[in-house]
Amino acid sequence: MTDVTGAPAEVLHTLFHSDQGGHEQVVLCQDRATGLKAVIAIHSTALGPALGGTRFYPYATEAEAVADALNLARGMSYKNAMAGLDHGGGKAVIIGDPEQDKTEDLLLAYGRMVASLGGRYVTACDVGTYVADMDVVARECRWTTGRSPENGGAGDSSVLTAFGVYQGMRASAQHLWGDPSLRDRRVGVAGVGKVGHHLVRHLLDEGAEVVITDVRADAVRRVLDQYPGRVTAVADTEALIRVEGLDVYAPCALGGALNDLSVPVLTAKVVCGAANNQLAHPGVEKDLADRGILYAPDYVVNAGGVIQVADELHGFDFDRCKAKAAKIFDTTLAIFARAKEDGIPPAAAADRIAEQRMADARATR
Ligand SMILES: NC(=O)c1ccc[n+]([C@@H]2O[C@H](COP(=O)([O-])OP(=O)(O)OC[C@H]3O[C@@H](n4cnc5c(N)ncnc54)[C@H](O)[C@@H]3O)[C@@H](O)[C@H]2O)c1
Repeated sequence: MTDVTGAPAEVLHTLFHSDQGGHEQVVLCQDRATGLKAVIAIHSTALGPALGGTRFYPYATEAEAVADALNLARGMSYKNAMAGLDHGGGKAVIIGDPEQDKTEDLLLAYGRMVASLGGRYVTACDVGTYVADMDVVARECRWTTGRSPENGGAGDSSVLTAFGVYQGMRASAQHLWGDPSLRDRRVGVAGVGKVGHHLVRHLLDEGAEVVITDVRADAVRRVLDQYPGRVTAVADTEALIRVEGLDVYAPCALGGALNDLSVPVLTAKVVCGAANNQLAHPGVEKDLADRGILYAPDYVVNAGGVIQVADELHGFDFDRCKAKAAKIFDTTLAIFARAKEDGIPPAAAADRIAEQRMADARATR
C-alpha cells in the first residue's frame, strides 16, 4: 500500500483514478457554531459497515487532513479484513488541536455527522480521542464504539492489543525457530505505554528476557518497579535496536520505526510490535527480507484493539474477544506461509490475502 499525498486536485485525482483511491465515500463535515471541521472517509463496505477510529489532529493543511483520512480508511479495510471482521474500512479526522479545540459541543456535532451516514461508518477512538470522548459522541450517534464500561462499552483496548501482538510474536518464533515459545528469547520493547507495558507482562510470564526503552522516564520507571530485577532498560530506541543477541524487536511507540537508518543496524531476527505504520516507506519490507529479518505485519498483529471495538457493538464479551484475538497466531503463520509460497515479503502477502477477502465479498454481493 502506498499513501495519498498532495494538493486537493491531486488528492481528487488519486481518489478517482489511482490504486491508492477507490474509496466509496468521502464526506467533508463542517459545523461553524462549534468549529468542527472533519473528514469521514469510507474506503470499503464490502465486508460490512466501515469501522475505524477518529483522529483529532492539528493538520497543517486541509488537503493533508483529507489525504490522511483516505490513507487511514484504506488501512482499516486491510486491518479489518485480516482480522476476520465483518467490517469494511473507514476513518475520520477532526482538524484541530485536541488540547485546545475539543469541546463537548464539537464532539456532539461530530456525532450528528457520523449518525447522518446511517451506519455506513462506525466510529471509535484514535490518536487524540479517548474513551470519554466516545461516550460523548455516542449521545448523538448509535454507531459509536470504544466507549467506557459505565456507558456500555468495553473500555481500554490496549489489553487485547498487547495479547494479539504477543500471539503474533509466538507465531513468528514458530515460523523461524520451529517452536512458539519465547522462553529465554531476548525481546526489546520500544515504548512501554498502554500496549507496551501489557506486552512486557506476557513476555515475562513466558520466561523471555525483556529490554525496554521509552522517551518518558515515568513509563520506564513504572515497568522497572512492577518487575524488580526482571527487566533491563536502555537509553533510547537507537540503543535498543543495537542490543547484542536481540531476538525480537517490538516497536510499540510511533510509526516509521522501520526505516533506512534503523533496518541496517537492527540486531533482531524478528520484528513484531503494536505500532501502526511501522514501515517508513514502500521498499522497507524488502530491505528487512534481504537482511533475513522476519517482519510480522503491524496491522495484522495489532488488530486486538479493533477486534475489541467490533465486539462491543454486539455487547462486549472479554472471553469471546480474547478467543478472536488468539487467532492472530494462525493468521500470522498463514501470512508467512503465503509469503514463502509467493516469494514476496510478509507485508505484501498480508495485503494480497486482505484484498482477496474483499474481492470475494464483492463478488458474492
Ligand atoms: N492502544 C491500542 O489498543 C492500539 C491498537 C492498535 C495499535 N496501537 C498502536 O500501538 C502504539 C502504542 O499505542 P499505546 O496505546 O500503547 O500508546 P501510548 O501513547 O500509551 O504509548 C506509547 C509509548 O511510546 C512512548 N514513545 C513515544 N515516542 C517514543 C520514542 N521515540 N522512543 C521510545 N518510546 C517512545 C511514549 O512515551 C509512550 O509511553 C501506537 O502506535 C498505536 O497507534 C495501539
